[in-house]
Amino acid sequence: MENLNKDALYSASSLSPYYKTEMGECYHGPAEKILASRVGQELKGKVQLILTSPPFPLNRQKQYGNYQGDDYINWLCKFAPIFAGLLTPNGSIVMELGNAWEPGRPVQSLLPLKTLLAFVEHPEGGLRLCQEFICHNPARLPSPAQWVNIKHSRVIDSFTRIWWMSTTDEPKADNRRVLRPYSKSMERLLSTGTHSQPPKKEGGR
Ligand SMILES: C[S@@+](CC[C@H](N)C(=O)[O-])C[C@H]1O[C@@H](n2cnc3c(N)ncnc32)[C@H](O)[C@@H]1O
Repeated sequence: MENLNKDALYSASSLSPYYKTEMGECYHGPAEKILASRVGQELKGKVQLILTSPPFPLNRQKQYGNYQGDDYINWLCKFAPIFAGLLTPNGSIVMELGNAWEPGRPVQSLLPLKTLLAFVEHPEGGLRLCQEFICHNPARLPSPAQWVNIKHSRVIDSFTRIWWMSTTDEPKADNRRVLRPYSKSMERLLSTGTHSQPPKKEGGR
């Protein structure tokens, strides 16, 4: 065992599932290592959906350690061809990325946007942006606190970006699986065929 380097040790012995059920297996560890291991290799071309919220390019270090600046872009973008290689021909990558702010300044960092652009344009990924979603959370705590709570010069940073990417223009998708009930006005339009309100009764309000 002492002769094995750390990576070899990881791929040789640490790759037992963290837990498993009849539905599948869960592995816990650095994505770059797990995907480079036998488990990742066996998944090539078989993954329908990669749904990920990677570490954001925050200026304050988190416990799990996050890269900054160009190191961050390079680190995350390395996954573009790896993820693309795992997908089925009509598979999807869905990635959430939050905002970041320049240290000590009321200025938003361009790093998240640059990273998403570099990811989707990675020359070996063959990806395209199918659709951008905004995850708006009005209940977010006030942040960045210095500019929202103390200087009162910015409003709460309350959204993250979610980019849906694929190696094809037509990944598996069906918006009928996420339909919402019609609004009252739409129900009225469907039943009356008109946008106009029914005439009010005389004496009515
Ligand atoms: C931005 S957080 C995700 C936050 C999550 N979406 C949420 O709303 O709570 C990033 C996560 O990625 C994990 N992480 C960091 N580096 C990683 C790596 N190399 N491979 C896999 N996961 C990693 C961290 O432990 C952390 O749980």
